[in-house]
Amino acid sequence: MKLVHFNNAGASLMNTKSIQILKKYLDLEKKFGGYELQEKSKATLDKFYKVIAKLINSEPSEISFMPNSTLSWNFVLNSIPLKKNDDILIFENEYSSNLLTLLKKKNHFKNLNIYKLNNLGEINFSELENMISKKTRIININHVCSQNGNIMPVEVIGKILKKKNPNSIFMIDACQSAGQVPIDVKRFKCDILTSTGRKFLNGPRGTGFLYVNKKIRSILDPLFVDMTSAKVTSKNKYKLKKNKPFLESFEFSPALKMAFTTAVENILNKGIDNIMEKNIELSKYLRKNLNHNVHFYENENNLSAINTISLRKGSVKELFNYLKKNKINTYVVNHEVSNLYFKKIKKKFLLRISFHYYNSTDEIDYLVRIFNNFNKVKKID
Ligand SMILES: Cc1ncc(COP(=O)(O)O)c(C=O)c1O
Repeated sequence: MKLVHFNNAGASLMNTKSIQILKKYLDLEKKFGGYELQEKSKATLDKFYKVIAKLINSEPSEISFMPNSTLSWNFVLNSIPLKKNDDILIFENEYSSNLLTLLKKKNHFKNLNIYKLNNLGEINFSELENMISKKTRIININHVCSQNGNIMPVEVIGKILKKKNPNSIFMIDACQSAGQVPIDVKRFKCDILTSTGRKFLNGPRGTGFLYVNKKIRSILDPLFVDMTSAKVTSKNKYKLKKNKPFLESFEFSPALKMAFTTAVENILNKGIDNIMEKNIELSKYLRKNLNHNVHFYENENNLSAINTISLRKGSVKELFNYLKKNKINTYVVNHEVSNLYFKKIKKKFLLRISFHYYNSTDEIDYLVRIFNNFNKVKKID
């Protein structure tokens, strides 16, 4: 059996065309020079904005090319002017780097409210509605989180939030959903959305994007400006340039941007609905066949490509190593990824098995065989 890659929520295996584009672009840089090739390739590079806009149903001018999800989220959060009386609301599955950004900023707003999910990871909408007030400046939710594959009901949350407080900002961390779950920022009433390239969008590492709704852009104070987004107008003053991608910097990798664009085009051609359907089928197949000595953490009515397990007997770290020895990539997610979530489930580690469109039931059969051997070796009946 060749390598079985079930760590797509870490980084998926880039599609061949994107790899070819990446290599070709780097070869051409050597031939023409970096700046010179960028100039020649402007039209192709600018396709990025259209392609991402299509992916999330926004306008191209609302998109920025970013190096990853964490920086996008951190920079944009730090660009939202906050008042001492403002509250921020997050959920009990929050990604720790986002939480850290908020904790570092905690003197700039009043309360950080954390919505407690029920044991199935669900939200009671009337309870949520009661937690939102005129003071709620920002809500952030992980559309799908790193350590649990359930898809959060972002559309309902957006509706409740905007009805209760139209001046609030709705942020979605779509790092684990973009590429495997349909995204429509208009339908979700989303103001800010961040994602990465290397996971379900199947792009290269070192890529990501940021969406900022044009309606809120003028109220933001960009954390970072450089000469692409601003100009010096006098000794003491500068002015923001119009229509420049928010928070982008002068220097970036055109090769990565181009390969990322191709990857997203490939995903769009396959169809997000088709990808989602296939991944859910694989997740169901896994649950049906991996049914001994294992506990799954997702709500079965709301599956995605991400599955997380603990063992009734034995350690997931040992299982991870055993699978790796047998050429199966999975991932151990630990409590540092989401302190809130792991505290809630009273665990320190889970094994994450995550699929993408190129995985098959044959590969799952192989994983199940190796898993059963593991149980035999460990004398678990
Ligand atoms: C839900 C979520 N948000 C944000 C991130 C951070 O993404 P990046 O590593 O691209 O900064 C991750 C990474 O795993 C994630 O799972």
